[in-house]
Amino acid sequence: MPDEMKNIYYPIEAEVIKVIPETPTIKTFRFRLSETLSFRAGQFVQLTVPGIGEAPFTPSSAPGESKELEITILRAGRVTDYLHDNIDEGSRTGIRGPFGEGYPTDKFKGHTVLVVGGGVGLAPMRAGIYGLFQEVDDYKRISIKFGARTPEDFCFAEEFDDWAKKPKTDLTLTIDKPYPGWTGRVGVVTVLLDELDVDIDDTYVISCGPEIMLKFVTLKLMDLGFDPYHIYLSMNRRMSCGLGKCHRCNIGPYYICKDGPDMCYGDIMNYPNVFG
Ligand SMILES: Cc1cc2nc3c(=O)[nH]c(=O)nc-3n(C[C@H](O)[C@H](O)[C@H](O)COP(=O)(O)OP(=O)(O)OC[C@H]3O[C@@H](n4cnc5c(N)ncnc54)[C@H](O)[C@@H]3O)c2cc1C
Ligand code: FES
Repeated sequence: MPDEMKNIYYPIEAEVIKVIPETPTIKTFRFRLSETLSFRAGQFVQLTVPGIGEAPFTPSSAPGESKELEITILRAGRVTDYLHDNIDEGSRTGIRGPFGEGYPTDKFKGHTVLVVGGGVGLAPMRAGIYGLFQEVDDYKRISIKFGARTPEDFCFAEEFDDWAKKPKTDLTLTIDKPYPGWTGRVGVVTVLLDELDVDIDDTYVISCGPEIMLKFVTLKLMDLGFDPYHIYLSMNRRMSCGLGKCHRCNIGPYYICKDGPDMCYGDIMNYPNVFG
């Protein structure tokens, strides 16, 4: 169907073809869509569960055009609990979108990209990381820093060795507290920023995770001397329309649903309630 004929309020059919448990509270759902959907890294979709409700999620599969899509979902309430408990292979749902601007990847080209993620924030970041890998020649370096509560709380852990072997890429992990058998770094994700070895003036940062993590990551980056216009934060606040119409998601003149959800910190830093 030509794009101009698509009704953004009308979901396309999405059949669940695989459910992958990632952690005790996170599952990845792979959908087969009745129509091709094209999205850019950082854009999000609205997932409709018939009779239950709708919620926004950033796909975790590679950006581009496809009839298949993955979304990685934390159990958090009405819609997400239903998805975890009742949706399995063969279940039919709906997807509408994509919405938002996504990452301004053209700006990042020729520079280092620092990816900082925590908890379920790794889910939306995977599409961003796959997008960077698709065009790895265009970047100077890709440095990934991930944090989770325990080793069991890392989603996509089975992919980490492959990511670390990609050209120009390094990956460092930390967990919040000591854990039996864990020999890596311990502490919240900002501890990994204490030992950054990137050229700060030549680096763009993308970050996604709980609001409190975004706040402390941003404060640390600013302390280190990062340009606030080089910091992009996934502001995954509650949304409704996803279209800049209901005024539920704005920071100053910016609408997270329409202008984000990945917002340039330099643009929003002087407005109140940036971090909730
Ligand atoms: C652009 C965007 C992308 C997102 N991507 C992902 C993703 O890839 N994976 C994922 O697991 N989640 C993601 N989320 C969060 C997800 O949309 C919420 O977890 C979901 O809407 C919760 O719906 P529910 O009906 O299960 O919970 P509800 O029953 O509506 O709420 C349960 C509790 O969670 C709180 N809550 C609900 N939504 C949010 C939110 N967005 N931020 C903070 N607190 C919230 C409520 O206030 C309530 O306390 C994203 C959100 C946005 C806006
Ligand atoms: S969700 Fe309605 S204005 Fe952003």
